[in-house]
Amino acid sequence: MHLHVALWVCGTLLALLLGWQQRKCWRLIWQLNGWRGVAQQPVLWFLICINLHPNSILDKVTRLRVLFQRPLAILIGTRALLYIDDPAGMECVLNAPECLDKTFMQEGFFARRGLLHARGQKWKLRRKQLNPAFNHNIVISFFDVFNSVGNQLLEQFATQPHLHGSAVRFKDAEDMLSRAVLEVSCLTIMGTPTNFTQADDAHIATTYKRLLEISAIKIVKPWLQIDLLHRLLEPQLYAEAAACNQLLVDFVAEIVQRKHRNWQLRNALDNGEDAPWQRRIFIEQMFQLAANGELTLQDIEDEAQSMVLVSFETVSNSIMIALLCLATHKGDCQQRLRAEIESVMPHGNDVSYVSVEHLQQLRYLDAFVNEALRLLATVPMNLRHVSRDFQLAGRDAIVPQNTIIVLDTFSMQRDTAWWGERATQFEPQRFLQQQQELLQKEEELEQEQVLHGQSKYTPTRRHSYSFLPFSKGLRTCIEFGDETCV
Ligand code: HEM
Repeated sequence: MHLHVALWVCGTLLALLLGWQQRKCWRLIWQLNGWRGVAQQPVLWFLICINLHPNSILDKVTRLRVLFQRPLAILIGTRALLYIDDPAGMECVLNAPECLDKTFMQEGFFARRGLLHARGQKWKLRRKQLNPAFNHNIVISFFDVFNSVGNQLLEQFATQPHLHGSAVRFKDAEDMLSRAVLEVSCLTIMGTPTNFTQADDAHIATTYKRLLEISAIKIVKPWLQIDLLHRLLEPQLYAEAAACNQLLVDFVAEIVQRKHRNWQLRNALDNGEDAPWQRRIFIEQMFQLAANGELTLQDIEDEAQSMVLVSFETVSNSIMIALLCLATHKGDCQQRLRAEIESVMPHGNDVSYVSVEHLQQLRYLDAFVNEALRLLATVPMNLRHVSRDFQLAGRDAIVPQNTIIVLDTFSMQRDTAWWGERATQFEPQRFLQQQQELLQKEEELEQEQVLHGQSKYTPTRRHSYSFLPFSKGLRTCIEFGDETCV
């Protein structure tokens, strides 16, 4: 009898403690969706449990989100998961200092020790240290690399029968392209030719891709981030991840260490009279920081790994997405692109070299790429950890500390609320119209300022956070040519 009572007391105390821990999460659920939000929790828990697979989660979220009022909060243990898919919510979160960090769910991510996953003060310092490596002069100097690898790629597509004609397999084209992009990444980040366009016998490119797939599995199954559990529950996947990880760590470490030895030798020979600071590529700027005692060689290896991974993955996927849109689009897109390229670079000119001036004139190409990135976002979702309670702008809702925020860029960029009735259609001209409107407004602004010293400038109709292929706010993607620091 006494044991019975003791168990009841303990149970009640535990329930009270849990309720106390969860109180701010329930308040958020209530503030966002009222009674409805509270009542739908069991349904949401059930939906999360049955949809945990990286290959289908995006598709399921896209279909199920419309059944709920959003932003939507779900209680998970003692934390809240806040789902946001509207531009105003994105703007608030991406600019809030309380939402600077990535979540624990990304802890199992491969190459997590670089800028992409850095937290708090470490992130601030690193971003400041790395920004100069992406200045205008350096990016312009990479055009030789882009052109040379691009031309090699064209040659391969032209000469290898399985890469041209009507029967090209997606897998073959993807393999070829991703190896070329990896070569560009290694050349631009680490200044090292790898010859991946010709051959990749060690399967470095496919290993990067596989490790990213495994990282995605670990995000939706966060318990696999505990080494022991991963080893016990999925031993094969664990062994595969460890082998892939080692291969890529060794690959980057060997290059960084070799480059570092050469850099030190060259520096000693030049008596420290090196190229001006603003002309150094990423890895050389890192070596200089190490020489000043601001970084260790291990830091450099981590940053180089993270940078190669992030540039390789995003760029190769974006190119594939654009090609997919080009191949499947039924309209006049291919003809318009061809006509524009021929008008900017007419036959007879040196068409084998594309310069930055050429790119600036290719307006339809720009609109086409933007539309592909809108319809099939390369980075479909972003996650954020809330480090302190903060208020969601425009709403009477306080987001508690430790909340996990899911920013669903994919769904937002296809939502009729922001993109009109034809939101799911591939229509590059929507960005052309926007370019024209902006140009017109800039002209109006200039005229107004000349005439009256003031302007009637009004922002475009579309919310500036409704298109976020490169994210925005504090942790936006590296902005090439922008030398401002955080
Ligand atoms: C089409 C190509 C690219 C796309 C679509 C893209 C997209 C993005 C997005 C959405 C983020 C934000 C991620 C988050 O908030 O979790 C990001 C961050 C980042 N990107 Fe890119 N990116 C591209 C190319 C590149 C390239 C070429 C580089 C480097 C050479 C790069 C370096 C980075 C870095 C370092 C970050 C982390 C910034 C930080 O946390 O402060 N990206 N990118």
